[in-house]
Amino acid sequence: MPVRLLTLSHPADTLKQVVLAGLSARPKCIPPKYFYDSEGSRLFEAICTQPEYYLTRAEAALLQAEAQAIARSIGPVACMIEPGAGCCAKARFLLGPLQVAAYWPVDISGETLVQAAGRLAADHPALEVVAVQLDFTAAAGFAPLLPQLPARGRRLVYYPGSSIGNAGPDEAVALLRQFRVLAGKDGGLLIGFDLKKDAARLHAAYNDAAGVTAAFNLNLLARLNRELGADFRLEGFAHQAFYNAEAGRIEMHLISRARQQVTVAGTRVEFAAGESLHTENSYKYTPQEFEALAARAGFAFRDGWQDGAGLFAVHFYG
Ligand code: AVI
Repeated sequence: MPVRLLTLSHPADTLKQVVLAGLSARPKCIPPKYFYDSEGSRLFEAICTQPEYYLTRAEAALLQAEAQAIARSIGPVACMIEPGAGCCAKARFLLGPLQVAAYWPVDISGETLVQAAGRLAADHPALEVVAVQLDFTAAAGFAPLLPQLPARGRRLVYYPGSSIGNAGPDEAVALLRQFRVLAGKDGGLLIGFDLKKDAARLHAAYNDAAGVTAAFNLNLLARLNRELGADFRLEGFAHQAFYNAEAGRIEMHLISRARQQVTVAGTRVEFAAGESLHTENSYKYTPQEFEALAARAGFAFRDGWQDGAGLFAVHFYG
């Protein structure tokens, strides 16, 4: 079946507005979604292959080993919706064992999505594939998608990759509430999240020896130079990532190596020596903590799986 492209645009926050607001906040911060320009996406792919970054491998091993059990637990679905699907690689683990009539991957980048969805549709000729180009992180969220969804049959929201960890708990609950609406009353959610573990292991995952995570973090400044005409000197900032045990999260920062001034979109921004620009949080959960978070969004735990080493979890909620 040919892939259908659904382009759903709505007023998005512009990069300039968000960045200038973040640079005038105290402490300074920029949301992690801005890491992912084409160079940032390339660097993220490279992070996923670093020996210290266990998340991607652990989740893939889990999905590979448990796909049949996961499919049995979920049962037949009419429509599987995958927010942030990117290259649709993680759907492939499920599309064989799962009884599913339609796959609706959602992503901000229509071009990458259509190409990936096309390859996937060619491998699953009986599957209806609808590629949805939408920035669901913008204020309207999934609202433009809701009226387009098939009205009949059970829906499954699939959110692998531990992306939920990049939202703070309240923000995560707000996103999960949107998933609840997307799934509908009799639908479900299959979600991957990173488990709490030894701080040294977490620290290593975000401080790889090859410096790929550092390059990914610093690319944010390079992106602002490219797209907003900013004049960040990348050598003036240092990558910092550490586990904040009290908050249960890895924090990533860019630390100004000296007192300096930067111009961003015509606005002068001062950095003190040692001052942080907070670029990302990556929350880690115990299974019980995650169940409680999902319950706040109206999801009831149905089943859960972990990889052999107990690093990563996938839960199914109804
Ligand atoms: C996309 N997300 C789940 C990654 C994470 O681990 O929080 C992003 C990342 N940041 C640094 N390394 C990877």
